[in-house]
Amino acid sequence: MKEHPLKERIIDGFRRIYPASPKPRVFRAPGRVNLIGEHTDYNLGFVCPAALELACFVAAAPNPAGRLRVYSENREELREWPVSDLPECRPAGNWTDYAIGVAQQLLRANHAIEALDLYVFSTVPTGSGLSSSAALEVSTALALLGGRALAPLELALLAQRAENEFVGMPCGIMDPYVSVFGRDLSAVKIDCRDLGNIIVPIPESVEILAVNSMVKHELGQSAYRERVRECASAVEAMRSRHPHVTTLRDADLEMVHELGSGPPALLQRARHVVSENLRVNRWVEAAAAGDLANMGALFVESHRSLQNDYQVSCPELDFLVDTALTLPGVWGARMTGGGFGGCTVNLVEPRHVAAFREGIAAAYRDRFGIVAEIHSCRPSAGAGEI
Ligand code: GLA
Repeated sequence: MKEHPLKERIIDGFRRIYPASPKPRVFRAPGRVNLIGEHTDYNLGFVCPAALELACFVAAAPNPAGRLRVYSENREELREWPVSDLPECRPAGNWTDYAIGVAQQLLRANHAIEALDLYVFSTVPTGSGLSSSAALEVSTALALLGGRALAPLELALLAQRAENEFVGMPCGIMDPYVSVFGRDLSAVKIDCRDLGNIIVPIPESVEILAVNSMVKHELGQSAYRERVRECASAVEAMRSRHPHVTTLRDADLEMVHELGSGPPALLQRARHVVSENLRVNRWVEAAAAGDLANMGALFVESHRSLQNDYQVSCPELDFLVDTALTLPGVWGARMTGGGFGGCTVNLVEPRHVAAFREGIAAAYRDRFGIVAEIHSCRPSAGAGEI
């Protein structure tokens, strides 16, 4: 097998920080771009993300002093804990929470944690909506397991629990799931209720580009929790007439319209989730048929629904989407991830990619004075040792 191009660089970095340690093993877990199915995962609906080449790498070797040491190259910070203290650690409110969160989950699942030196390096930009946190959680979990087997679904669920219970974000399964189950050149349609998936090959005649708005509005985390609550309230309101509805996954558009007499926000949130689930299924069909026009149109519908009904977009993301749609060779564009900043995802004809990059960057700089970063999103394989 060909060696990963970053492996040597990561081992060199490890040696610089831990000169006395033995040669480390290196684990990788990718970030993701969600193609369609936004804010549907925690409603147990459908999502269709792709794993990225952008990834988090963790090099690991035994630590003879009984300590867990973690160095982040991106932050240039070293933290350490006696292994025996790990079960009692409380969240620190910083990047180490992802590592400690998965360590505690592994302990709870009866996996022993060895004393280790870890070296973390991530190419997933943080706060960009490309899931740098799930990449960190999954790669750290693999490093802590040190090659001991854990069923892929267990690994994804464990990372989600770390995020829900330790970091304190009520997020769904999408990010860790696709980080584990990603497939080269394909997206992964996930059924967030039964946790099965189907592989969705991406037509060769299109390139996926993520445009990073470089903003992350403070509102994001509290709005996310609020949306989770609003969806639960919409379910509650539906249940008087439809007792079998336990999540918005069970609802249809007729039930959404019946919410008309209640608070308008509940109807809007439910309408987004129910229509978005339908869009995921239609998008997967369009992808199988190589129907780029339809794939693009569904992207735009999804964005408008997130903008107007779910209300998780922001002026920067709306501008990037609206501008993309004026550029040649663009089939569709939408915000991706939780919202309130981060990235848009764009379907672009390969021969127009260079002009797209220039055009969108220039327009964004003129309007907001910000230099957008643009990532080519070739779908990649899921997590593992490299
Ligand atoms: C964040 C969460 C995911 C998902 C998206 C929105 O990325 O981590 O679980 O809910 O937002 O689709």
